[in-house]
Amino acid sequence: MVSVSMARPTSIFVCSDCGHAAAKWHGQCPACEAWNTLAEERAPTPRAGGGGGRGLRAAGPAGRPMPLREVSADRAPRLATGIGELDRLLGGGLVPGSLVLLGGSPGIGKSTLTTMALGLLQGAGRSTLYVSGEESPAQIRLRAERLEGGAAPGALDVPVLAETDLDTVVATIAAERPDVCVIDSVQTLGASDLTGAAGTVGQVREVATRIMDIAKRNGTAVLLVGHVTKEGSLAGPRVLEHLVDCVLQFEGEKERTYRTLRALKNRFGSTNDVGVFEMRDSGLVEVLDASARFVAEATRAPGSVVLAAMEGSRPLLVEVQALVSPSELVPPRRVVSGIDRNRLALVLAVLSRHAGVSVGSADVFVNVVGGVRVDEPGADLAVALAVAGAARGVVAGGEDARVPVAAFGEIGLTGELRSVAHHDRRSEEARKFGLTQLVTPETAPTLREAVRLAFGSARSPARRAA
Ligand SMILES: Nc1ncnc2c1ncn2[C@@H]1O[C@H](COP(=O)(O)OP(=O)(O)OP(=O)(O)O)[C@@H](O)[C@H]1O
Ligand SMILES: [Mg+2]
Repeated sequence: MVSVSMARPTSIFVCSDCGHAAAKWHGQCPACEAWNTLAEERAPTPRAGGGGGRGLRAAGPAGRPMPLREVSADRAPRLATGIGELDRLLGGGLVPGSLVLLGGSPGIGKSTLTTMALGLLQGAGRSTLYVSGEESPAQIRLRAERLEGGAAPGALDVPVLAETDLDTVVATIAAERPDVCVIDSVQTLGASDLTGAAGTVGQVREVATRIMDIAKRNGTAVLLVGHVTKEGSLAGPRVLEHLVDCVLQFEGEKERTYRTLRALKNRFGSTNDVGVFEMRDSGLVEVLDASARFVAEATRAPGSVVLAAMEGSRPLLVEVQALVSPSELVPPRRVVSGIDRNRLALVLAVLSRHAGVSVGSADVFVNVVGGVRVDEPGADLAVALAVAGAARGVVAGGEDARVPVAAFGEIGLTGELRSVAHHDRRSEEARKFGLTQLVTPETAPTLREAVRLAFGSARSPARRAA
């Protein structure tokens, strides 16, 4: 039995910027003078027998370090959710007693994914619990009905608790001892003895700490759902990222069908994997042949090039599109989606300086199709070729090319192309989907050469200057 009632503790107010602790709330932090950064937290309880001895004298009994060889490590089996992409990201499934934070912007499908996972686990004979502080049981049922007939049979058997009071939630987990529990979301629960509203830093930290405590004691695997701020970080609780064992980020645009799930942190597996999902009526469906989809959908118009990217350990072919259009604005627009803006600036500079392709004062838009994000220097060359094609109005590979040109490679500041990791796997993936025209640092040593290769010497942008 776990006791959840304690004597009412006193609170302190901690600055989320500098960590200064004050006894009462201030609008401005007395230490770092930042505004509105103080959030209420539970004051640390003084240790019994600690008695103020800050000097050299030990304050309590010493611990007993133990050689790792003697530590018993029960290798509890992982709880596979049955959603292949999710299990792969987690490194084989949920680890009992662990905390996973699932972040994502509103409406991206966090509740759908977690409900599916619980439905499949429940269907496989595991005990589950879905705690929702956001939706009524009736709303959750509506979603589960959609999933039951599709991606997650068993969704209607998941026990739900619509509750925002942390004490009640902790007591329920302690009583029910589920194998897997979902908290949707960590920002909506609150401890009634802290005065700050649910979602404040102090509350979120308290919620996560208490849930972690009960999860470790019960061996319950917990999926914490967290909202993401406009700036893209997990709202408020950056602190949470250190606390939990695994941080998953659900990305993509709500209006688009593709969503990617990636691990930002994982204590039990690798972090450079990504899962691709598609949102359908029946729930989230794994897209195992993502490359095939993106290649089939590639437009083969001027400004379109296929990038052979690596998403973690997996090669992925995605279409990169560019549009170059005359602009009245000073400075002209540089709009990107799916790649880093600064990377585009670099690519444009090298294109103009070393490959004879200048976009001058035109607006440049670059988009990675399907809402995919590529954060790797290997994307440089595909971006450069897409921009070069758009600037010249020519199709990479020639007007009558039957398959799109694929490219990968990093662009150096002196106009050279640099090799990137996993050359073989990228090339192989391109060949697998029939993309025989491949431009890489191995086929072209410089960006100028790559542009010539992709667009043919007859209409080479390199001759533009003549
Ligand atoms: N009938 C439907 N058919 C297809 N897609 C649907 C349907 N109903 C909802 N969706 C999709 O599900 C998404 C909402 O999913 P979900 O509620 O899981 O998101 P969430 O991340 O939990 O959102 P929130 O931040 O509001 O909790 C919608 O954006 C929509 O794309
Ligand atoms: Mg939700």
